[in-house]
Parts: sequence; C-alpha cells; structure tokens
Amino acid sequence: MPSTEPFICIGLMSGTSMDGVDAIAADFSQGTPVFRGRAHEPFPGELRQELLSLCRPGENELERAGAASQELARCYARAVKSLLAAARIPASEVKALGAHGQTVRHCPDRHFSIQLNSPALLAELTGIDVIADFRNADLAAGGEGAPLVPAFHERIFRSSRFRVIVNIGGIANLTILPPTGSGEASGFDCGPGNILMDSWCNQRTGRLFDEDGAWARSGSPIPDLLDAMLSEPFFSLPPPKSTGRELFNAEWLKDRVGSLGGRLMRGRDIQATLLQLTARGIADAIIRYAPAAEEVYLCGGGALNGALRSAVSALLPAQKVDTTESLGVKPMDVEGLAFAWLAYAWLNREPANCPAVTGASGPRILGALYPAHRK
Ligand SMILES: Nc1ncnc2c1ncn2[C@@H]1O[C@H](COP(=O)(O)OP(=O)(O)O)[C@@H](O)[C@H]1O
Ligand SMILES: [Mg+2]
Repeated sequence: MPSTEPFICIGLMSGTSMDGVDAIAADFSQGTPVFRGRAHEPFPGELRQELLSLCRPGENELERAGAASQELARCYARAVKSLLAAARIPASEVKALGAHGQTVRHCPDRHFSIQLNSPALLAELTGIDVIADFRNADLAAGGEGAPLVPAFHERIFRSSRFRVIVNIGGIANLTILPPTGSGEASGFDCGPGNILMDSWCNQRTGRLFDEDGAWARSGSPIPDLLDAMLSEPFFSLPPPKSTGRELFNAEWLKDRVGSLGGRLMRGRDIQATLLQLTARGIADAIIRYAPAAEEVYLCGGGALNGALRSAVSALLPAQKVDTTESLGVKPMDVEGLAFAWLAYAWLNREPANCPAVTGASGPRILGALYPAHRK
C-alpha cells in the first residue's frame, strides 16, 4: 500500500574503479524510487593506495584490511553526512543505508567474495541502520554473487522496447531486458570497464583517469595488441560470469603487451587500444547475447567518457546508443540507487538477486542488518 510518509534509503557504492563512494538517497514510499539527492566522497589518496594494494596478496593483510575497513566506513559516513546536508534530509528520516563495501577479492569459483567494510562503525557514526554484505547469500546458493544491479535495472528500466543497460564501472556489466512479457531478464560481467584505462593512464600520466577519453582519442588502436587482449578466455566464457581486479589488472596488461615481443608502442596508442577493448567487450556481448536489442543505455563513470560512448555506438550501428540520462537517471547515480533499493528490498524481506544472472539456485534475500544504537 503506497504511503504518504517518506521512506528514504541511501545507497553507498564504491566499485572496482576505487575512485571513491557515491551516495544516493531515494524515497521509496511509492514503491518506485524517487531521487532525493547525491554526494560523492573521493577516497583519500592513502586509503585508495591501500585498498588497491589489498586487492593482491601481501604482508600482514588481515591487520591492514581491518584498519582500511575502518577508514572506509569513515569515508562512507562523510558521504552520508554531506548528502543529508545537501538534500536537507534529517538522519532520523532515513530508514537504512545500503553499504556495498570495497571488493578486495572476488572468487565465485571458490564461492566467496570479500568486501571490506565496517557496517557497525558506519551505523555508530551515522545513527542510521546499515544493511551490508549483499553478495554472500547469492554465493551460498551457488551463484556468482555478481552482478547484483540487473534486478534493479529490470525494475526501473524494463519497457516495451528491447533494451540493454550497460554499467561501465571498473568492470563493465550488462543487463539484457527483452520487451516486457517476452522472456526473462539476464545479465553478466562482460569484461573490463575503466579499470585498465585508469591504470595505464595513471601509470603514464599520473592522472587518475583519462577525462572524456581525450588521451585515447589522440592515439590509434594497435590491431594485434587488441587481438591479443581479446583472446583472453573470459570474453568467450558463456554466462553466468563475473570478474574483477583478480583478472584484469596492470599485470594482465603487461603480459598482453609483452606477448608482442618487446615492440615499441606509444602510450596513447595503448590507451586507444584499451578503450577499444572495453567497447568491444560490451558490443561483442550484445551482438552475441542480445542481437534483437533496439536500445542500449550506458551508465557508470564510463558513460561520461565521450570517446568510449562513440566507440560503442560505432560498433552497434543497429542500436540506438545513449546514456541512462535520457531515461531520467544520471549515469553516476544508477549503482548508488541500486544499493538504496537493495536496502529497501532487505527491509521488505524481498529477494533481490536475479538467479538467471548469477546462477544461484533460487531467489534470496540479500544482506544483513547492523542496527544503529537508539538513545
Ligand atoms: N569525465 C570522465 N571521462 C572519462 N572517464 C570518466 C569520467 N568520469 C568518470 N570516469 C570514469 O569512471 C570511473 C568511475 O566510475 P564508477 O561508475 O564510479 O565505477 P566504480 O563503480 O567501479 O567505482 C573513473 O575511475 C573513470 O575511469
Ligand atoms: Mg565509483
């Protein structure tokens, strides 16, 4: 029964790009989310470095992971505070925070995925209940635990047109939405999003990312390097599938470049090749698994990269390619909104995974509650 009282949940998403946390508030009192505000809190440089380094085996990891989790929760709490101030929402009006945490290992083949987080500290710092640990129930049911956003994409973007939603974060994942009433929604991780472009750009220029793909645009893709990259078996694996920094990282890139026998290559041409790789990963998956798609909508930070948008459009001449902005949701808000919805779904004890996407044996309620202390 729709209510007139606001029912606000906040989603906190920090993905594999490690750029920081996006906090999105939405009112669910009418069932469908109504956007109420956003904030972005960049990770302090040291935290970012530590989180990146914790993605690989290293010394004294447990203690370092414990300390980084506390820092992360403090960063999440700052994002919540600036969001509440900017959107003029009293903390007492927020029913829950949906806090993803920071993935440092994603190993679905071994049935675990580790997100650093300190939800109890976050609840303590904000005075708001926190729902966290969204992936483990799906993994326990034999699923990949990822991607989790397709169920949300289905709820807000499904229509009478055949659509594909592509979230280009560190990793790119897509959600296939056949017209309403004609078949099940599906989705999977299709390959790297910004992860390799960010890493190479940072290594060569010191910048965290290639604004609008300008550096990539100044170079030309190297055909045999692109072929060497596309020969990565992950691309031809059938879904369900998900991936992360364990596979697509600076070492992976170094090996692919090395496979061409020490040939001299310009940094900008490598960047152009990486951009083309992301575009091919997306377009090839759509051509193979959703050839009837009419419309493709991009979201996530990669949707703000004009060169990448053009590359995806060029590879999909039969589809209309746009960003989710044209559907009324800013590209950088979609994932945060999805985690606000995941918190809302937990509060309603509503299963929120999509077994057709993750391969789980059935629908599962995702997440666990860390209640705030009430004075
Ligand atoms: N203006 C832009 N031009 C090019 N790339 C951008 C731009 N804005 C954001 N990005 C890319 O998006 C990434 C952040 O995307 P995001 O959706 O937050 O990913 P994640 O969910 O992995 O954190 C940045 O690391 C950067 O690569
Ligand atoms: Mg991000």
